[in-house]
Amino acid sequence: MALWSGRFEEGADAFTQRFGASLPVDRKLYAQDIAGSKAHAAMLAAQGVISDEDAQAITKGLDGIQADIEAGAFSFDVNDEDIHMAIEGELTRRIGTAGARLHTGRSRNDQVATDTRLYAKARCAQLMEANLELRHVLVQQAQAHFDVVLPGYTHMQHAQPVLLSHHLLAYVWMLGRDFERLAAARDAADVSPLGAAALAGTTYPLDRHATASALGFSGPVPNSLDAVSDRDFLLDLLYAASVSCIHLSRLCEEVILWSTAEFGFITLSDAYSTGSSIMPQKKNPDFAELIRGKSGRVVGDLMALLMTLKALPLAYNKDLQEDKEGAIDAADTLHDCYRCAAGMVSTMTVHPEAMMAQAKKGYLAATDVADYLAKKGMPFRQAHEVVGHLVLLCDKRGCDLDDLSLADFQAESSLFEADITEQLDLRRIADARTTFGGTGSSAVREQMAAVEAALAADAARL
Ligand code: ARG
Repeated sequence: MALWSGRFEEGADAFTQRFGASLPVDRKLYAQDIAGSKAHAAMLAAQGVISDEDAQAITKGLDGIQADIEAGAFSFDVNDEDIHMAIEGELTRRIGTAGARLHTGRSRNDQVATDTRLYAKARCAQLMEANLELRHVLVQQAQAHFDVVLPGYTHMQHAQPVLLSHHLLAYVWMLGRDFERLAAARDAADVSPLGAAALAGTTYPLDRHATASALGFSGPVPNSLDAVSDRDFLLDLLYAASVSCIHLSRLCEEVILWSTAEFGFITLSDAYSTGSSIMPQKKNPDFAELIRGKSGRVVGDLMALLMTLKALPLAYNKDLQEDKEGAIDAADTLHDCYRCAAGMVSTMTVHPEAMMAQAKKGYLAATDVADYLAKKGMPFRQAHEVVGHLVLLCDKRGCDLDDLSLADFQAESSLFEADITEQLDLRRIADARTTFGGTGSSAVREQMAAVEAALAADAARL
């Protein structure tokens, strides 16, 4: 029997009952639903709307239900449409009329919005923690391989030498911004719709500030229609999750490339690799690929909710029931991806010699040879041309810039002197980039200190 049975003569058809139900999804919100109900009941009693005895019976009954759910001893009835009705129905079965008073001055519309906001806040906090853990692991690898040089790329072509620590810290900064986005999504969820009732508020003397603060919200949503209608806080969570998944996807793309025979920059641990059912030699970076692939579903979750919300009139519409599944999926997926990426990065083996061997190919010193001439007074454009000729010469001879003799250099410009050979040392080239944010080791050391300060500050925000 549905909670609204008074107005109906027939029960729902079994199919539409199932089609309309959200219990399979929203049962995950049982703790938030119970917390919201306890805060509502306590406030109703404080305002004299229900008796203290009823409020106590409600609290005790809800605690019992929560304990049973957590012990796996609660059997959800498939005929219950959602978690709100499942819990309220069971409460009334357990404690009688006091349970039937709980819904005074409340609607499932403000109830579900409250539960979902509490849930979103908790998931954001959990994701922030996992994000921080991954950043820690990346920083540890950056510290362990601080001076390792690898080729930096543009257009996937060798460009200039960079430090591996610099490269890894780039991801730490990206993930740091993802942390900010998750924190902003947590803040966006941090207002209470409870007391907005169905859409217009209620005639009972509810204290919305009291329930908001009892539930740890910063305050009540100021407009009852807005309170029950919008799910933009979930869009914020989904967007933050999507961007972070894209960052992880880019990181994993590099992990996949770097672990190929062609690169050989890293070896993934066995725990983060799989074999082939037919090719005995294979060691595949499946988990990096999965993280890369899962970004698609999280972005899909964002798109789905955007489309669900588009053109919805105020106030509550059942379409909104579609909000939770994607948000839960995105949070679960990102959490697993953070965890998997952290394990993969912390256990991978770095091969500095393979990185250096590649850095020696592709004329990574070319910019610095041009700078050498420019610093001696040659206009940079002309220096660029001179070095272009030298590279062409190397190309024809099949050698690198450091295989050229001083005579070869001087044939192109008399400004070249014996010290040109020092300019060709890749470590020195990387190290010379001391501008703020550059790859020179002094600049990266400064950057590392800033990253560590940011990690400590972010840890305090969990
Ligand atoms: N299960 C519903 C949801 O997730 C709860 C709110 C239902 N409200 C209503 N008036 N049908 O959105």
